[in-house]
Amino acid sequence: MSVTGRMKKMTLAELNRKKKADEKITMLTAYDYPGAQMAEEAGMDMILVGDSLAMTVLGHPDTVSVTMDEMLHHCKAVQRGATAPFLVGDMPFMSYHADPFEAVKNAGRFIKEARMDAVKLEGGENVLPAIEAIVKAGIPVLGHLGLTPQTATALSGYKVQGKTAAAARTIIEDARLLENAGCFGIVLEAIPSPLAELITDEMNIPTIGIGAGAACDGQVLVYHDILGLYDQFKPKFVKQYAEIKPLIVKAMKTYADEVRTGAFPGPEHSFSMKKEELKSLLERDMEWV
Ligand code: KIV
Repeated sequence: MSVTGRMKKMTLAELNRKKKADEKITMLTAYDYPGAQMAEEAGMDMILVGDSLAMTVLGHPDTVSVTMDEMLHHCKAVQRGATAPFLVGDMPFMSYHADPFEAVKNAGRFIKEARMDAVKLEGGENVLPAIEAIVKAGIPVLGHLGLTPQTATALSGYKVQGKTAAAARTIIEDARLLENAGCFGIVLEAIPSPLAELITDEMNIPTIGIGAGAACDGQVLVYHDILGLYDQFKPKFVKQYAEIKPLIVKAMKTYADEVRTGAFPGPEHSFSMKKEELKSLLERDMEWV
């Protein structure tokens, strides 16, 4: 907290300090203004406007079809709701794959139009030219290795990655490439805990785990998953901290019932009119008849 009582803006230097001091970094996704406000109030260090919003908010079966404009729309709402957490915008599928020039232009939109602090993109060696170009443009990049949902089809589904020594070595190599390319941190998704620990110990930059065990420097989870708002799919690594959906449905049902029975709106939700105004209205009404 600052002297004014407001939370201080999270910085890259502070994230690095936390890693060095062995203080865990907290990160949660948010997709809109109220979600961002609540994440800030809960004291989250970082907010990720994840492309998981394609599934949790937009109802797509996976993350591939969300567009740049849709991502920016949600990032702008989140930015209006939270100022202290470090804000990361997730670059959507095919916004950074075709060529580094386009990747820089798209990353720039997250910073300039949506006022994110950084961007995240999925992949290792395959996306290195894009990462290098974005970093060179002065835009902080969060890497993402292991299970990369945008390419889940190529990975034969949402499966734990790096389970063999050879596959684990590739992820370690990719992590080194990402650190050398200038990423300020790396999300490690759905990889064995010992592998995440090896990477975390070797890296000078923070690792943020999701299904990667307790040794990572921080953890990220999806807003809808921790609150019990998305029930289509629940990975093993999710911990649900509240069961909000039944509460919302119950409140909606009660409202609908009260409208049907006439119990809502009551006099306390309605506006009155001065007696003489009503009388005058009714008299004029009579003249018109
Ligand atoms: O889109 C997302 O929410 C993510 C997290 C699962 C890391 O990438």
